[in-house]
Amino acid sequence: MPPEIIKGLKDVYFDTTESSFIDGIEGKLLYRGYNIHDLAEKSTFEEVVYLLLYGDLPNKKQLADFDSLLRANRIIPDDVIQVIDLVKTGHPMDVLRTAISALGSFDPEVTDNSVEATIRKGIRLTAMGPTIVAAHHRLRQGLEPVAPNPDLNHAGNFLYMLFDELPNQETTDLLDVDFILHAEHGPNASAFAARVTASTVSDLHSAVTTGVGTLKGPAHGGAAEEVMKMALDIGNPENAAEYASNLLDNGDRIMGFGHRVYRAEDPRARHLRDRSKVLGEKSGHPEWFQILQHLEENTMQPYRSKGICVNVDFFAGSIYYLLGIPDDLFISIFALGRIPGWTLQCVEQYKDNILLRPLTEYIGEMDLEYTPIESRS
Ligand code: CMC
Repeated sequence: MPPEIIKGLKDVYFDTTESSFIDGIEGKLLYRGYNIHDLAEKSTFEEVVYLLLYGDLPNKKQLADFDSLLRANRIIPDDVIQVIDLVKTGHPMDVLRTAISALGSFDPEVTDNSVEATIRKGIRLTAMGPTIVAAHHRLRQGLEPVAPNPDLNHAGNFLYMLFDELPNQETTDLLDVDFILHAEHGPNASAFAARVTASTVSDLHSAVTTGVGTLKGPAHGGAAEEVMKMALDIGNPENAAEYASNLLDNGDRIMGFGHRVYRAEDPRARHLRDRSKVLGEKSGHPEWFQILQHLEENTMQPYRSKGICVNVDFFAGSIYYLLGIPDDLFISIFALGRIPGWTLQCVEQYKDNILLRPLTEYIGEMDLEYTPIESRS
């Protein structure tokens, strides 16, 4: 009997989890039992990171201490700045991957895979991630990196280091929500890849490096960048229908639609849709939201019945674009939000570890005779 092949490991359960609950049919997402809608509307990224890593919401003192810890760990070693400088012509995700890998050489607990040390390392990586991305963006423009500002929260400090300018509250809040929405999402491709690395009893820096490399692809974290490129190509809401039909007729996909798990709308998309609309109107550029809205409500409407709906990436790009963030940084922002999720997935893997090692059915030739190279035609 040939083995049953489950391509793409679709619908395969490989473990239990207490991290996040996803109901793809209902379009529901919970982090540690809390609904993503409540977290997006009422929480902060700092609080969500605490929730993910420690399993419960913090009280006031716990949150204040945790926030101070994040703020205190933002500085990256000068040697890592030099590494970033050396590879600065690369894509920001390649640079982030290299810098996180390099940070492993400077972390005193790199080889300690205990749950406690892994959480401490995850906190440090969460805190340092924005410093890497911002330092790279400055260095590639020939500018000096901006030192972290301990008076600003996680999102605000990232924007400050990126633009060397104090961000306003509205912009900071937008990025804060965006980080919350990206913080954790079960064993998606990058988290699963990170877990495979952790399952060999390798360390968190290696696992997060794996996660960054896996997130980079357009089928995963790269979609937001592709959506905005598409919107810019379309240029005007009137052109949207024809442009999208041509893509679909050619067998191409509309980026920002579809999901391996969700058959209903990705619950994270709602928060970015609303904010993309408001930001577009306020900044005098409603056209990008109008283009996206047109695609969602017209071209892609028939696809809803097939379970292909907007995902978290569809409206994210338009927000970043309107905030003046270059399009090749969009995936990095996803990665910065996801570091706590990768950490949590690795903690769960370490807690009850088994080597992740599936099988492929061999369908090639068997027992061929080896011919010496001189005798081959
Ligand atoms: N546009 C048009 N058709 C699509 C799309 C799309 N965006 N996504 C899926 N389909 C079709 C696909 O062509 C296939 O049709 P058929 O059965 O006729 O061949 C069917 O839907 C099933 O597609 P699939 O690739 O087998 O489904 P999957 O579960 O493996 O793919 C996906 C999930 C995210 C890779 C896919 O929907 C896709 O490529 N979407 C565009 C990229 C994107 O937006 N990625 C971000 C995902 S959300 C952020 C994250 O967590 O990574």
